[in-house]
Amino acid sequence: MKLLLKRKGRYYTKALVPGSVYEEPVITISGNEYREWSPKRSKLGAGLRKGVRNPVKDSSFVLYLGAASGTTVSHVSDLTPKGRVYAVEFAPEPMKHLVLLAKKRANIIPLFANANKPGDYPVKVEPVSVVFQDIAQKNQVQIFRKNCKAYLKKDGTGLITVKARSIDSTKKPSIVFKAAEKELRKDFKILKQTRLEPYEKDHKIYVLKLK
Ligand SMILES: C[S@@+](CC[C@H](N)C(=O)[O-])C[C@H]1O[C@@H](n2cnc3c(N)ncnc32)[C@H](O)[C@@H]1O
Repeated sequence: MKLLLKRKGRYYTKALVPGSVYEEPVITISGNEYREWSPKRSKLGAGLRKGVRNPVKDSSFVLYLGAASGTTVSHVSDLTPKGRVYAVEFAPEPMKHLVLLAKKRANIIPLFANANKPGDYPVKVEPVSVVFQDIAQKNQVQIFRKNCKAYLKKDGTGLITVKARSIDSTKKPSIVFKAAEKELRKDFKILKQTRLEPYEKDHKIYVLKLK
């Protein structure tokens, strides 16, 4: 049974735990529940719609930065039933929801921590094959580089969504993206990049490999 399905242009993940997480539609195929992955609620979901390939295998260890209440984390958890998702979030409110989600899904390890300080995570994070980041901060690229240096395996895949307006709202997004790319290229080869319109305005997602 496939963990990720594409049907009529929409993506679905095979529910690790029955039922919807954020009121997304659920369909049943041969007795298995599949949850629709909303591109409007999830930037990784938007990335898939824009041609990004799913980097998560059934036993991947994933470091997820900017987990919020776990909308996208829940799909990543579906994709890695034999793996683990370290989900980092520093805001208390979404963290409460994330903890509840993790109670139902054994492969999610919620980390109430600041992604700026990857050395201070409250549990030992093992080397991961995927780092995914969705953090709208001015220093989002530095946060991502630090975490990849600390935890991404040499042959792993990094994915970052860059929100231009959070880095500099006075500059044109295309200028902000150029500067972000220059910084990313210090450590990474850019395998794919695409803007996330029509799902998210002035965002880009990058798929990267360490140099
Ligand atoms: C755009 S939301 C993430 C949405 C989520 N990725 C999803 O698709 O469900 C960004 C999240 O990053 C968190 N965040 C921002 N800066 C952070 C930091 N330095 N460390 C940890 N979390 C951070 C915010 O609190 C917020 O919940």
